Amino acid sequence: MDKLLIRGGKRLSGDIQISGAKNAALPILCAGLLTADTLALANVPKLQDVATMQKLLRQMGLSMEDKAGVLELCGRDINKLEAPYEMVKTMRASILVLGPLLARFGEAKVSLPGGCAIGSRPVDQHIKGLQAMGADIRIEGGYIYARAKKLKGARIVTDMITVTGTENLLMAATLADGETVLDNAAREPEVTDLAHLLVAMGAKIEGIGSDRLCVTGVPALHGANHSVIADRIETGTFLCAVAAAGGDVVLKNTSAHLLDAVVEKLREAGAILTTGEDWIRVQMAGRPKPVGFRTTEYPGFPTDMQAQVMALDCVADGNSRVTETIFENRYMHVQELNRLGARIEIDGHTAIVQGVPKLVGAPVMATDLRASASLVIAGLAAEGETLIDRIYHLDRGYDRMEVKLSAVGADIQRVK
Ligand code: EPU
Repeated sequence: MDKLLIRGGKRLSGDIQISGAKNAALPILCAGLLTADTLALANVPKLQDVATMQKLLRQMGLSMEDKAGVLELCGRDINKLEAPYEMVKTMRASILVLGPLLARFGEAKVSLPGGCAIGSRPVDQHIKGLQAMGADIRIEGGYIYARAKKLKGARIVTDMITVTGTENLLMAATLADGETVLDNAAREPEVTDLAHLLVAMGAKIEGIGSDRLCVTGVPALHGANHSVIADRIETGTFLCAVAAAGGDVVLKNTSAHLLDAVVEKLREAGAILTTGEDWIRVQMAGRPKPVGFRTTEYPGFPTDMQAQVMALDCVADGNSRVTETIFENRYMHVQELNRLGARIEIDGHTAIVQGVPKLVGAPVMATDLRASASLVIAGLAAEGETLIDRIYHLDRGYDRMEVKLSAVGADIQRVK
């Protein structure tokens, strides 16, 4: 099993190219199920979750070909309307095939995702929404069996804001009969990116970027070209790495507008951020100031950046309070950060971080994707060697992170 060996204390300097967003690419690949035509997708990140999604879609009959960095998908010969447990258990985002399959083929069998490390994460809202659109849904033997001759437009108000729930229902609504109104819709940039692709495919969607999406169903969608937006969480992760280790780095092919709440916190921490249309320069010297925050839905502070900014708080000059409101169990990095000398206590949904002057390298274990990223950041800031085990979690969502960090002067290597 691969590990990452980091020798901390190196200043970072140079340029980093940001990849396409994992959480936009995953639903966008599933949108390939909605049409018999070809989708040409640029800026698809090369990471494990994307590979897993590609494998799942290929076994359904969606063809895929990489043509000089543009991924061409063709849904002409879909012949298997099923997402098996073996695949869904490794990646919850597999649930995103449910809406498209049901809308285009009137049928789908998708394994129920189980709980996962960061919380219970049910999919009841996906199911409730599809039922409101007239789907007949039965759950048996751990599988969701869904049928609908033709989905019908409906008004759907989800109990909470759900990102993949909104994406699933949005894709389903594009081919339904009549108008669907999705109220309390997620406004994350990845939802917006999917909506833009769907419009390019011929879907009729109003209210893109707002919490009310109005979709008028069309009989069929056609092919389109699309470039996936930049990964705002990868962007934020590298911003934190520079803020924790010190340095001067330009992040390219990304935009500060995708992560205003995070940019704000990094400025509060003392980083100097200069921004352009498609780049962000981050400069940092000295110890960060502590920053408190509360995770919430977009445009608030993203739960997917909680662990990384907490790593920065660990070396801050003072104390901070971090509150996680989206997932119930997203503090698994805390114990590992404490192994590096951090002083964090958990009190319910809140973590109280007492900044220390320095962290000291140690062997640690990655427990989930963003927890792994926080350990990399802490390792870069720490004195001595940090060895991070189980980095397959990191590989799920970051495109060659250690290669990008080495190129800006980090001492980081993958060891077998
Ligand atoms: N929820 C329900 N029922 C549902 C759907 C959601 O109770 O039917 C609850 C969840 O348990 C959670 C909250 O609602 O407490 C929000 O969950 P959401 O559905 O928004 O999460 P998700 O769609 O499963 C996506 C991202 C996550 C990110 C969250 C929150 C993808 C593929 N995943 O998950 O990304 O943390 O939104 O922003 O888009 C990551 O990239 O590391 C990651 C975990």
